[in-house]
Amino acid sequence: MHALAILVAAGRGERMGAREPKAFLAVAGEPMLLRAARAFAQAPSVDGIVAVVPAGRIGAAREMLGGVPKLRDVVAGGERRQDSVQAGLQAVPPSFDGVVLVHDAARPLVEVELIEAVARAAAERGAALPVLRLVDTVKRVRDARVLETVDRTTLAAAQTPQGFRLSVLRRAYEKAWRDGVLLTDEAMAVEHLGEEVVAVAGSPRNRKLTTPEDLAWAEGLLRREGLHPRAGEE
Ligand code: CTP
Ligand code: MG
Repeated sequence: MHALAILVAAGRGERMGAREPKAFLAVAGEPMLLRAARAFAQAPSVDGIVAVVPAGRIGAAREMLGGVPKLRDVVAGGERRQDSVQAGLQAVPPSFDGVVLVHDAARPLVEVELIEAVARAAAERGAALPVLRLVDTVKRVRDARVLETVDRTTLAAAQTPQGFRLSVLRRAYEKAWRDGVLLTDEAMAVEHLGEEVVAVAGSPRNRKLTTPEDLAWAEGLLRREGLHPRAGEE
């Protein structure tokens, strides 16, 4: 199976509140983008990796990712996440007819097994993403008032990587663009097309690092696992 990974890392990371773009922040000594890229490089189905970064960071990203096998390109992202994904798609060779895996660099602890599960499901069924079932009781709330309790049995939180046969994603993106749909993930474009998206089991470790608390959680996890690089090793 042939898959190409697009790692989107062009966000500003406003909720993280750091000076640097979020994907360039270190988690236990290594930038998020580098950790994510390594995970994809280790996945057997992945042939190539495209990193999408802020326009002013292309040189820095090339340097950072220099030692990552399978790195194919580093390109500039756009204002919205979907613009960054589009920029990544433009770097995919027209002759490629495999699976594209779009992943948030802000999920640096993604496991190789999860990448493979999504790639497999996407190759077989056209589109796939990992989800986590919700564990808490869910309320609809507006202006600090509970409107109702929502039946959570059919609800799940979407993760990445989201995988697609390239032809499906291109078609979905074209229609979403034409119809002016604001996309918060890629699967939404395929849903808008009315085609099937398969859900595979996500992973708690694959959490998106959004706030300083998330960063602290990831560092704690890596420290407990003894993966914290020793001084001088970075
Ligand atoms: N992303 C991107 N281009 C954008 C916006 C987001 O490539 N214009 C990427 C981010 O770099 C991140 C992923 O999409 O890896 C998920 O987005 P999010 O967690 O929201 O990151 P940021 O947009 O950077 O954070 P914030 O929303 O807090 O500013
Ligand atoms: Mg964002």
